[in-house]
Amino acid sequence: MASLAELAQQHARLRDEEVEQLLRLTTSWSLLADLSFSDMVLMAPEKHSGGEFENFIVLAQMRPNNRATLLADDLVGTVQPGEEWPLSRQAVALGRRVTGEVSLSPGSERLPVWCIPVRSHGRVVAVLVRLQAPLRSPASLYEHAYLEIFEELCSMVSEGSFPYSEVDVAGPGLPRVGDGVIKMDSTGVIEFATPNATNALHRLGVYQSVEGHRLDELGLKTRSIDRALSSGIPQVEEVDAGHEAAVQFHCVPLLRGQKTTGLFAIVRDVSDLKLLNRQVLHKEAAVREVHHRIKNNLQTISSLLRLQSRRSEQEETIQALLEAERRVRSISIVHEVLSREPGGEVDFDEIVRSLVDLVEDSVLVSTSVELQVTGSLGTLSTDLAIPFAIALTELLTNAVEHAFNGFRVAAGGAGVVALELGHDASSAVAEVRDNGKGLPTDFSLDQSTSLGLSIVRDLVRTQLRGSIEMNSLDPSKGGGTVVRVVIPLLEAASS
Ligand SMILES: Nc1ncnc2c1ncn2[C@@H]1O[C@H](COP(=O)(O)OP(=O)(O)O)[C@@H](O)[C@H]1O
Ligand SMILES: [Mg+2]
Repeated sequence: MASLAELAQQHARLRDEEVEQLLRLTTSWSLLADLSFSDMVLMAPEKHSGGEFENFIVLAQMRPNNRATLLADDLVGTVQPGEEWPLSRQAVALGRRVTGEVSLSPGSERLPVWCIPVRSHGRVVAVLVRLQAPLRSPASLYEHAYLEIFEELCSMVSEGSFPYSEVDVAGPGLPRVGDGVIKMDSTGVIEFATPNATNALHRLGVYQSVEGHRLDELGLKTRSIDRALSSGIPQVEEVDAGHEAAVQFHCVPLLRGQKTTGLFAIVRDVSDLKLLNRQVLHKEAAVREVHHRIKNNLQTISSLLRLQSRRSEQEETIQALLEAERRVRSISIVHEVLSREPGGEVDFDEIVRSLVDLVEDSVLVSTSVELQVTGSLGTLSTDLAIPFAIALTELLTNAVEHAFNGFRVAAGGAGVVALELGHDASSAVAEVRDNGKGLPTDFSLDQSTSLGLSIVRDLVRTQLRGSIEMNSLDPSKGGGTVVRVVIPLLEAASS
């Protein structure tokens, strides 16, 4: 279906700023439909080749939210013959509202209709047609109040001051008149409050009858009402009463010429939303706190292991305890990041930076070795991050520990361990490369029984469902070892 802008461009003679004004009108006109319990149709004079225009093109249509529609058909894009819409033609010619009756099809019941000229930048560019269903009789008090506001807004449409150029007063996410309406005069004295608005005021602790008073006289402090009255621009405010209750006020000024004649506020009780919001925030804080405590506990464990290693006499025991300490610390790094940013995903690059620091200051090497990191993994799911962090710590530690043990890099060169991180569409790739002595000649990853590589094998293949390869590099090309780990992202995430 063609959009309003396309229809206006193809079938009506409208300038860009006029189309813009009509678009804004249709953003806010659910308010008009609801206040008048009516169907709304927006039609513009059709392009014509000289002489007086003949027909109308229907640009948009709106049904009321609080009544059954009278228009079963979608009229948007249809051409309406001028002779069937004499009142609309009059509205364009006279530039003022024309009311009467129409029958929508030959012989059908005649319905009250208002044809309201829409003015943009001084020119009548379209007609807003209001098709009114008969009101229940007798009409309730609040129906009268709605209609009064509607009439004022219609005059503003004809003057070009509704829709407001600054803000939309209706549309997705904004409150609707059914939430509650308070009508005030130009000094903020309340003329009327609908039953839902009265309930919302009760929430804020205002129990007396409000008509004839300003809200501040009743003990309710608001800024938006006076601001809307003095500026002529709609204002939004959330008014709180204690911890529990909150009511949103959308204050819409009513204008005539340069003067503000009054205001209506659409009020919505948002206490439940507020409560929900607070609960979510509480939960997030609790998750953060849990990660913080896990991190602290892991740090305690790692200190205990370190203390115990200092008490040990045998070199083998000392090394074993220090290795265990390092593994515990690599897990605590992940929880540390999660305690700041809890969620299903973690910034793995930040984790990698901390792991590199960990390896640098926990592995004692005689040769000075430089650790370099290139590329990025971005965020990873928490499930992947912990095993991946442990595996990378093992691989980096091995390179720093073993590659340069009893080996000297060719003259002028330095020992380098490079970690390269990257992504493709479905997997994360990490490569640890060193320029050391290469793997022992009889080395086989699958046959190795030592603890470090057994852990890596288990984490990568079983927990992360990924693959790992370790190879010595050709000595003619600088030698050393390269380890490549590939982790599927989608599969692991769904497991
Ligand atoms: N980057 C590397 N360069 C040379 N040798 C390595 C490298 N990584 C692992 N190795 C070899 O693999 C062996 C097994 O490693 P690992 O299982 O981590 O046990 P550990 O580190 O306790 O010796 C090491 O002892 C070493 O011989
Ligand atoms: Mg090792």
